[in-house]
Amino acid sequence: MIRAKEVATGPIFENVIEGDAVDVLKIPAPKFYERDGGRYIGTACFMVVQDPETGEINLGTYRSQVLDAKTVGAQILKGKRGDRILQKYRKMGRRCRLP
Ligand SMILES: Cc1cc2nc3c(=O)[nH]c(=O)nc-3n(C[C@H](O)[C@H](O)[C@H](O)COP(=O)(O)O)c2cc1C
Repeated sequence: MIRAKEVATGPIFENVIEGDAVDVLKIPAPKFYERDGGRYIGTACFMVVQDPETGEINLGTYRSQVLDAKTVGAQILKGKRGDRILQKYRKMGRRCRLP
């Protein structure tokens, strides 16, 4: 078994774009299938959300479509844990944010 080791930095932090500089149109994102509605920036990725009631962290793979320079959409199918968490935020009138 290889134990996880927490580090302060690493290659994943080489390209960090934040705030007003965010422009997802600058990042290559393919249209995978003929009938896709657009370009997908997230396919083999996971979305991290936190249950607002229990504090539990959930990771789910949901395709993420580029909608505009600052907006990426995802459709989480009904019944998935990610959707059940999203509904809790909606009931509370809160935005579903990353932990
Ligand atoms: C490549 C890939 C793309 C997926 N895209 C979606 C998606 O767009 N929406 C969705 O609801 N599930 C999608 N799934 C299935 C979910 O990742 C899977 O059902 C997962 O268990 C959901 O996790 P959750 O129940 O914690 O929300 C995808 C799975 C894979 C492997």
